[in-house]
Amino acid sequence: MARHLITSAIPYINGIKHLGNLVGSQLPADLYARYLRQRGHEVLFLCATDEHGTPAELAAAKAGKPVADFCAEMHEVQANIAKGFGLSFDHFGRSSSAQNHALTQHFAGALYKAGLIEEVTEKQIYSPADGRFLPDRYIEGTCPNCGFEDARGDQCDNCTKQLDPTDLINPRSSVSGATDLEERETKHLYLKQSNMREQLQDWINSKTDWPVLTTSIANKWLNDGDGLQDRGITRDLNWGIPVKRGTEDWPGMEGKVFYVWFDAPIEYIACAQEWADAGQGRDWERWWRTDKGADDVTYTQFMGKDNVPFHTLSFPATILGSGEPWKLVDYIKSFNYLNYEGGQFSTSRGRGVFQDQALDILPADVWRWWLLSHAPESSDAEFTWENFQASVNKDLSDVLGNFVSRVTKFCRSKFGETVPSAGEYGPTEDALIADIEVRIRAYEQHMEAMDVRKSAAELRAIWAAGNEYLQEAAPWSVFKTDEDKAAAQIRLALNLIRLYAVLSAPFIPTASAKLFTAMNTLDTSWPDDLRASLGSLEAGHEFSVPDNLFAKITDEERETWAAKFSGIRT
Ligand code: 2FM
Ligand code: ZN
Repeated sequence: MARHLITSAIPYINGIKHLGNLVGSQLPADLYARYLRQRGHEVLFLCATDEHGTPAELAAAKAGKPVADFCAEMHEVQANIAKGFGLSFDHFGRSSSAQNHALTQHFAGALYKAGLIEEVTEKQIYSPADGRFLPDRYIEGTCPNCGFEDARGDQCDNCTKQLDPTDLINPRSSVSGATDLEERETKHLYLKQSNMREQLQDWINSKTDWPVLTTSIANKWLNDGDGLQDRGITRDLNWGIPVKRGTEDWPGMEGKVFYVWFDAPIEYIACAQEWADAGQGRDWERWWRTDKGADDVTYTQFMGKDNVPFHTLSFPATILGSGEPWKLVDYIKSFNYLNYEGGQFSTSRGRGVFQDQALDILPADVWRWWLLSHAPESSDAEFTWENFQASVNKDLSDVLGNFVSRVTKFCRSKFGETVPSAGEYGPTEDALIADIEVRIRAYEQHMEAMDVRKSAAELRAIWAAGNEYLQEAAPWSVFKTDEDKAAAQIRLALNLIRLYAVLSAPFIPTASAKLFTAMNTLDTSWPDDLRASLGSLEAGHEFSVPDNLFAKITDEERETWAAKFSGIRT
């Protein structure tokens, strides 16, 4: 038994996320956490909402709410959606927590003491009417490239050109509409990451088992152009963690907050503190401090590829630069993007299926299965309604659901709702068991390696092996001439249903729980010894026929949903 710390990238608070966000971090992290728990490991699985930064402020303003209230409400919304998808976090924290405030300020103090923070004076747009500096996104005006009148200071949404606020024609404040903007000097803190280039490069070089997607992005940032840039870790915003070094004020930094990407990953640690504070006797330091037992911990992070630079360079720079014994990540599993019907999922543009909408139309397991079995691992993946309908109908209804239904109903009609006792296994049964044995060991390897698609494919093959066996053994025909033989076949098949409940639990936990209930068993043990495992439901054991596990998606439903989600969500 080992100890595993698992974190998923923490989603921004500014709105409900789409399915691409789910499959890019939280869902595969959940798959891994569930699997490791099932195998008897000690797991701490953490996620949180990422609550600071301009997008949070803007979204709150749009909703007409104070930003703290907006964040509190949206946190609840996201927590409920996570529950809806069966995400088994040990704690779902908030980057705005008191714990994260203190810890972020602590890290800034430690980095300052280590000589890794520089104060830099720079020019920025100030709005006297608003009484504040305006971040790029708070400045709007006419795009010099296409003439679009509502271009933002960082980018034109119409022609996608990247902009500087000073490029805009007739710039105005998006807060108040004021046009009397001026450039003023302001001081910011920079983390001298460039001093740590070599240390970070050595560390990345030592990670020979990491996915190429992860290391190639890290190396690109380490080696491109001038190499690793120092980075500003403060902002002129009202909402965020006030800039302090430890508990001391930071002269010249009054009214400023830390940059959201500085405090967000620190929330991984603060979240463990929140978890500990929420339950008696929990010790967070044994997960995070290598001087307090975290040496034994294997730490795995899950994220989309856009988050990789922050996790391979920036956050490790914070940790290493502090000179304190914090746990560094052991493995980073990163994902490409999931596209939607020939284009991109987009939160800001409201394109695609959002998580709440998905749960409104179908059970979580259906989404979990499709998303995980199509995880964008080696390249971007694409969601289309046709593929979705075809895949889930085939895998979940025709293969798994159909097996369960045929076996339990046949048994009920011929032997009653108890496991039949007569008959012995023959060569067909032995061949099936041998085949499944090989597949289970492959499944274990893929799950341990976090090869999500391969794991799904192996699980599907294990389900299919049961169906093929049933087809070949044909107990409904055998029953006419040899009742005992049919009984043995069905005894094995009922035990396969329990086995499927065990193996499928990380992917489709709700359906798995239904199967355990129908099989009337508390034996959820892993099939380390497959033959013994297939004897778990003994002759005479009572079971019940479950309701239809997975309803098929009809053509009509598919067409309705494709039309409904073809537009833009406002
Ligand atoms: O991309 C995102 O959704 C970010 N909020 C992820 C932050 S992960 C971390 F560093 F906390
Ligand atoms: Zn433009």
